[in-house]
Amino acid sequence: MCGIVGAVAERNIAAILVEGLKRLEYRGYDSAGLALIDAHGALRRHRRPGKVSGLEQALAEEPLSGRVGIAHTRWATHGAPCERNAHPHFSGDDLALVHNGIIENHAPLRERLRGLGYTFTSDTDTEVVVHLIHHKLKELGDLTAALKSAVAELHGAYGLAVVSRHQPDRLLATRSGSPLVVGLGIGENFIASDQMALRQVTDRFMYLEEGDVAEIQRDRVQVWDAAGAPVTREVVQYHEGAEAADKGEYRHFMLKEIHEQPKVVQRTLEGRLGSDHVLAQAFGPQAAELFARVRNVQIVACGTSYHAGLVARYWLEGLAGIPCQVEVASEFRYRQVVVPADTLFVSISQSGETADTLAALRNAKARQGSGHAYLSSLAICNVGTSSLVRESDLTLLTQAGPEIGVASTKAFTTQLVSLLLLTLALGRVHGTLADGLEARLVDELRRLPSRLGEALAMDKTIEKVAEFFADKHHSLFLGRGTQYPVAMEGALKLKEISYIHAEAYPAGELKHGPLALVDADMPVITVAPNNELVEKLKSNLQEVRARGGELIVFADREADIENGEGTQVVAMPHIDDVLAPILYTVPLQLLSYHVAVLRGTDVDQPRNLAKSVTVE
Ligand code: G6P
Repeated sequence: MCGIVGAVAERNIAAILVEGLKRLEYRGYDSAGLALIDAHGALRRHRRPGKVSGLEQALAEEPLSGRVGIAHTRWATHGAPCERNAHPHFSGDDLALVHNGIIENHAPLRERLRGLGYTFTSDTDTEVVVHLIHHKLKELGDLTAALKSAVAELHGAYGLAVVSRHQPDRLLATRSGSPLVVGLGIGENFIASDQMALRQVTDRFMYLEEGDVAEIQRDRVQVWDAAGAPVTREVVQYHEGAEAADKGEYRHFMLKEIHEQPKVVQRTLEGRLGSDHVLAQAFGPQAAELFARVRNVQIVACGTSYHAGLVARYWLEGLAGIPCQVEVASEFRYRQVVVPADTLFVSISQSGETADTLAALRNAKARQGSGHAYLSSLAICNVGTSSLVRESDLTLLTQAGPEIGVASTKAFTTQLVSLLLLTLALGRVHGTLADGLEARLVDELRRLPSRLGEALAMDKTIEKVAEFFADKHHSLFLGRGTQYPVAMEGALKLKEISYIHAEAYPAGELKHGPLALVDADMPVITVAPNNELVEKLKSNLQEVRARGGELIVFADREADIENGEGTQVVAMPHIDDVLAPILYTVPLQLLSYHVAVLRGTDVDQPRNLAKSVTVE
């Protein structure tokens, strides 16, 4: 999605802004731009559709230089991804502004501003904001006052950064529903929508809260809260290794992140396991007492995180006997829901900034004090400083580290590990786990990183399977039980990065429709651990073969499924059935990756998709 970078320094900041934008490229975007106040006090800008490299090219042809400026990568919502819609937007020669989010009341504001004599040069909702601030500036004479007054009239979500040639020593920023972080340097300060953009210039950050307005100068940062009162926001030192945003020896971030899974699963388990049990305190000091009161769980998430929630339902109901509902956030947030008594609201998100998931949490919290309130909220999230974490009562951080590839991989497996920890913690408090189950699974979890390593070692075999796939246009993924959401995740990965149409079905549904599609051009991919459903699955596979369908089966070594004509079997290491969804995800990730590489798609930044969906 859109990205913001801004800087106030004593040196030329053009290169810093471009580097910042490059670090945000992983979020997905379709145009880029930057604006600076030059040595003559004039606002200058370059904007280009397409990649940041196009913007760099523009700068090479016509260099810009300045000490105060803002930059943006835009993911089009209102108006096509072309130069005139790209940010920064100007109001005359006076103001430049970049915006993340959506202004819902842009139409009436545009009418009003047109009536006041403003001319619009783009189709964006953003342009109304820069003219509105300009209009206020004429009345109030001060940029900070004008910004505060203008945002009071905005409906929707925004992270904004603005500069004025009349006050060329500062940049202004404000947020509501879209994240912004101030980066603190020595004699220079920065702003960005994601700290990742500023890691090359600082490791000290101040996270703006909802409604905050910040005035950023070279040597000071002033913040006012939503009520207009001056506030001090905590300064946080960032510790993640600088290598995180680097592909290292790998061709793509996605491949690097797939291979990081043993390490990050290990990290997600660290400090959370006792000798034979899960430490409930991992969820926060009040978790044990609160878990004892939980009688239901409602999970809400989007995309890959939603699939993690679907696996968790099998675990929560099957292992801990706790009723669980799972829903995509974009549906949940607009639906009248009946909340069973004592329901824990669980949101799952890699970024912690997904607009629909955040809105669902806020709706859930708005019920507090009513007869249909949730007991409490828990965020399972990969970003400790995110809005979702800050606004939830309890948090369990997945320790996946920054995930750059748009298609989620290590975030998913660490979410699954976290959800299994939640299942065990809840089940123990309620005494509903089978005898010895927790100790057995704790043991298995400790062995999981090395099992994941074994699955990764199958990379070359899977690359061969991918060759068979590369010219196909459609595919079906089948699974039963916890492997059904794994099949859904496998199909999502394939369509996201290879653009091959992929659908997932519970294997038992095959003959209720999808079997009609099966022929030699429709490969069927199946995940088959050796569990009590494997015999049923084998019958489903026969149904496919009988119709000439080509099968690719990831099967437990002991499942007794043989290679044969039209059937390619990839033997998987044996694993406890409860943990099988985590292990069987890995070959499906590798398969999608290799198919995408063979098809020559943009693996890390697939077309039309964004890493962090901060608008509805
Ligand atoms: C986007 C990403 C997906 C991700 C989904 C939810 O669609 O491309 O990879 O699963 O958002 O994101 P979240 O950060 O909430 O997990």
